[in-house]
Amino acid sequence: MSHFWSPLVHSLTPYVPGEQPKLSNLVKLNTNENPYPPSPRAVAAMQQEIGEDGTTIRLYPDPNADHLKQAVADHFSEFCLAPEQVFVGNGSDEVLAHAFMALLKHDKPILLPDITYSFYPVYCGLYDIESLSIPLDEHFVIRVDDYNKENGGIIIANPNAPTGHLLPLGDIERLVTAHPQSVVVIDEAYIDFGGETAIALVNRYRNLLVIRTLSKSHALAGLRVGYAVGHAVLIEALERIKNSFNSYPLDRIAIAGAAAAMADKEYLEKTRHAVMATRATLVDNLRQLGFEVLPSAANFIFARHPAHDGSRLAAELRQRSVIVRHFKLPRIDQFLRITIGTDDQCNRLIAALKEVL
Ligand SMILES: Cc1ncc(COP(=O)(O)O)c(C=O)c1O
Repeated sequence: MSHFWSPLVHSLTPYVPGEQPKLSNLVKLNTNENPYPPSPRAVAAMQQEIGEDGTTIRLYPDPNADHLKQAVADHFSEFCLAPEQVFVGNGSDEVLAHAFMALLKHDKPILLPDITYSFYPVYCGLYDIESLSIPLDEHFVIRVDDYNKENGGIIIANPNAPTGHLLPLGDIERLVTAHPQSVVVIDEAYIDFGGETAIALVNRYRNLLVIRTLSKSHALAGLRVGYAVGHAVLIEALERIKNSFNSYPLDRIAIAGAAAAMADKEYLEKTRHAVMATRATLVDNLRQLGFEVLPSAANFIFARHPAHDGSRLAAELRQRSVIVRHFKLPRIDQFLRITIGTDDQCNRLIAALKEVL
């Protein structure tokens, strides 16, 4: 606390990111990174962008990142997107932040699940947006009919985090059609691990904004690239906020690497299927140890053990150099959120759990 702080700073409750430990030889299953490296084509494009002597880095990047917007539109060529329907930002967190300010700040509360990505309430605090939490049902499932209330916008992560639960595209469409006067934001950070993208719907519904990231399925969390797809009017709102805040959110290396990653669909297919296969084995192994595991369409699973306290399990795993995420929050404090690692990492997790149990 300080009298130098603005009243806003006094009132904030900032987001706490998952730990990025500096130790080596950890089994790091706490922040939903991809266990595989990014596309070799992305790595080559980044190296090429720097060049021999780094001279291009003297120059500012393209503030519109046109090359990347085109690569995103091309990636989804079956949905016939124009680059004007694409917004790009410094990680999807930044894209989400701009969406809160540009599209979700109205004079009615926004609706969001009671258990969801914990950054959403933080943006509400930062931008002074009133929100109403809609409880997940007893199976930790979002029921879209529960959202039939007056609102200034709706935000849902699909698959939801940290539960991993997937809403079918039909439910998303029902939500979007039930609220034609509000923007419905669908955060698809994890959709490549088992869902159908709502980008299929953006040319039919002017009020749908889909936000995605290259941090998970494209294995580029360290590069910080996210994007949004929607009607050009929604995208213009995001551009107006962005150009009032930071004209160059993506550097030259990020634009080059992300565009090449989006173009390498073959590599994406290979790695996302590897993660999904490991997930199936991990779920089986955890169930054999007595865990209740929620069905997951993400690169993580959410699991609890009926006989062992969640926070103790997380601490015991940590002592064995395995880091998973535990949230001290109502309804979910017995769960562990476990990122899908390589087969070897998941085997080390199971071995550690066998010791603990
Ligand atoms: C649901 C969800 N949305 C968005 C993000 C942010 O991703 P990034 O800022 O790395 O693009 C995360 C990160 O974990 C997430 O879980």
